[in-house]
Amino acid sequence: MVKVTSILVAVLLSYTVVQAKLPASAPGIVVNDNVSSDAAGYQVSGNAQHTNTGLHLSLKSNTGKKDLYGKTIEDLSVDVSFETSERLHVRIADKAGKQYLVPDSPLGVERPKISHSAGDLNYDFQYTEKPFAFKVIRKSDNETIFDTTGQPLVFEDQYLELTTKVPNDANLYGFGELTGAYRRNNNANVTTFWARDVADPFYENQYGSHPAYTEIRNGKAHGSLLLNAHGMDIFTVTGRITYKVIGGILDFYFFVPEPAKPNAVVAAYTDLVGKSIMPSLWMLGWNQCRWGYQNISMVENVVEEYKSHNLPLETMWTDIDYMDSYKDFTFDPVRFPVSKVKDFTTKLHANNQRYVVIVDPAISTNSSYEPYSRGHEMDVFMKLNDYKTEYNGQVWPGYTAFPDWFNPKTQDYWSYEISNFMKSVDLDGIWIDMNEPSSFCLGSCGSNKGNQVPPDSSDAEHAKEQAALNALGTGVPGDSRNLLYPQYTINNGAGNLSEKTAPTTATHYGKIPHYDVHNLYGHGESYTTNTAIQSYRPGERAFVLTRSQFVGTGKYAGHWTGDNSATWDYLKVSISAVLQMQQFGIALSGSDICGFLGNTTMELCARWQSLGSFYPLARNHNSEGNIPQEPYVWPEVAESTRNALSIRYTIMPYMYSLFQEANTIGTGVWRPLIFEYPEDNRFLAEDVQFMLGDSILISPVVYQGADSIDAKFPAGIWYDWKDGTAISGPTTQTLHANLTEIPIHIRGGSIIPLKSPKLTVSDTYNTPYGLLVALDKNGTANGRLYIDDGHSIKQDSTSSINFNFSQDTLAAKGQFDYQETTKLEKISVLGGSFTTAVVKGKKYQLQKDDKTGASVAQGFQIDLTSSFTVQFN
Ligand code: GLC
Repeated sequence: MVKVTSILVAVLLSYTVVQAKLPASAPGIVVNDNVSSDAAGYQVSGNAQHTNTGLHLSLKSNTGKKDLYGKTIEDLSVDVSFETSERLHVRIADKAGKQYLVPDSPLGVERPKISHSAGDLNYDFQYTEKPFAFKVIRKSDNETIFDTTGQPLVFEDQYLELTTKVPNDANLYGFGELTGAYRRNNNANVTTFWARDVADPFYENQYGSHPAYTEIRNGKAHGSLLLNAHGMDIFTVTGRITYKVIGGILDFYFFVPEPAKPNAVVAAYTDLVGKSIMPSLWMLGWNQCRWGYQNISMVENVVEEYKSHNLPLETMWTDIDYMDSYKDFTFDPVRFPVSKVKDFTTKLHANNQRYVVIVDPAISTNSSYEPYSRGHEMDVFMKLNDYKTEYNGQVWPGYTAFPDWFNPKTQDYWSYEISNFMKSVDLDGIWIDMNEPSSFCLGSCGSNKGNQVPPDSSDAEHAKEQAALNALGTGVPGDSRNLLYPQYTINNGAGNLSEKTAPTTATHYGKIPHYDVHNLYGHGESYTTNTAIQSYRPGERAFVLTRSQFVGTGKYAGHWTGDNSATWDYLKVSISAVLQMQQFGIALSGSDICGFLGNTTMELCARWQSLGSFYPLARNHNSEGNIPQEPYVWPEVAESTRNALSIRYTIMPYMYSLFQEANTIGTGVWRPLIFEYPEDNRFLAEDVQFMLGDSILISPVVYQGADSIDAKFPAGIWYDWKDGTAISGPTTQTLHANLTEIPIHIRGGSIIPLKSPKLTVSDTYNTPYGLLVALDKNGTANGRLYIDDGHSIKQDSTSSINFNFSQDTLAAKGQFDYQETTKLEKISVLGGSFTTAVVKGKKYQLQKDDKTGASVAQGFQIDLTSSFTVQFN
């Protein structure tokens, strides 16, 4: 019989009520979406002060102010910094500086240092004194893009509320990580931010937190970020966006580029939070993974099957199956003996292939397990709220301790473990999972039982865990906040904040309660793992794939969208999921191809392989117990894979150049059509068709039984990749696509650098270059090629070549520093009527390409180490 106090009963009761009201698996049901009508607000006290970077205001709470969900903070400061001509920073903080801020370091977000206000501002900041409210106005068209006028400002220790007005039918994009439609229209919707281990639920909180959005209004775009890592709900309700946050400060950034293009908002956003990681070329190749490759022979066999079916395979993966009793940094001595795994990687590397395995953050507390004893010695694990006792949760290996990324010693610990581990079998990268962090029990379950037997998950057990957690207290010493049961209940799909993760009362280095940094845990691990891998392979770009992420994680890791299901809905929604990540600056992203949970089908897998072949990160991954879904399992799927991957590998120089743009400018490798064509309202809610860069339109079939798609085309000429047919937009056209095909169109006006597709990226890159010139109606086209050594962080020399075709002449100009040895040996022109090409004074007859009808010039070798022209006649 479990004894509970009356307070706990009350808490449990209210918890149950909230549980019952949690959002269902569709938008529409929201909890607490009202603005707080009884909030009295703040007024400016004293004079505004001009500072080097902008403006400083003091705020005092109005009389009659009462606490809503926490303790009112009476004195606030508002610091307005005109950081750049397109970026405005508005920080509303407690004057005393006690509220927790996202660290200004790689474990949070490293913000650019601003010493002076920028000139030439694209925006105005206006405020009213009583009650305090502010507006951000885009100067060029006097459009108010953020406006808190007439809306309450609430600033309590555990509850912040702020509302901005937006048009009733606002087109909002962002606010993720979220499984759902890409356009987050403001029709009664809530997005909750609390990192959570859950199989991709529709419209509920999941692994990552990016409280950022881009809005497109009348063809123009602006963006905003609330840089706060606390749990929060953001309500996108007709006419307004309301933020309800359970801690920290209101640290807003606004992005107002001119011209006001959506891609420019992404560029401005990533100027602040960091640009996406530059992947090595091999990371663009095809990946095969599954949970359930039970021994090394099974893994070897998959590699063999790929080869015998003539299917590209770059990187082979292994899930937790390889571990000895699921302990990190171990190999099962019978199923995955180290010597055999080492032989396997040696063989892979000889074939220019790679090997990546999973590592979970949770470290088994088994006393004879060295990674635990070393971490324990170094004192790098998270603690309970006495700041001394290790917090123990439960994950795959049983009871576990959790590395505390905020402890400066943890980097050394993790670098040692990761590099020794990678060295033992010569691994190429690390996949980090379960880093929300996930725990299967509530509270510090391991330490309560003192053994390695996983607790049962019965209600009685759960009640016991809850009681034990409560007994430790609801907060931390010296902090009056109730961290276990904050009064404002965010719409966490798991219920209480401490469910399925570390308790909010666990603590990190510097006595930081987990409550304040929960959403940063996976981000911290991403940074620490990236740094650890670099200590093993100095100078090489590190491969980290993370599940949990935060603002700016793309700088250190890629992301897969977690546990989807092998259903048509998830095939479709994977497109929005990847588009979101692009917008958040996590370019290297993709979903589990053919579906993770449940059995896939031949038809679904064929369509998914076609689409997934164009994910920036392309990995087939499957869960335990399901039927196999490697592409060679069905001849049709193998065929669809060969077709799609031959295109991916052909356009690889184009994709690599896009990744370099993501890494320098910040633009997405994948882009929503509305980001490329913001004036074309047909694309406002489009989330099936999308663009790969600005030159390739992909129109996948994502519905069961369908063999066509009604594809919308933007203005201009669009050439079918398969047969060269030119479609003139704007128009909608039904495109037929049999099971093994995916419709792909090249924008007239673009030039795409190509290679000949092989089974690995390096073999592909050893082939000569080609160029596909797709002319627009004026007979012109442009494109770009970036070249470097494909794997080093620092480059001695790179090439950035701009191609331009006009007046029948192809010209290549730019920077040609990289000593590229492969030559340009083929130029195909779509849309012209030429018969000859002159290369270095020599004339070449053009031939018609059988399939596409393009005019093809070849027979020459053009060096890509200096500028050149080719004249067409
Ligand atoms: C989690 C991951 C999944 C992985 C599994 C086993 O569910 O999201 O990708 O296969 O754990 O490690």
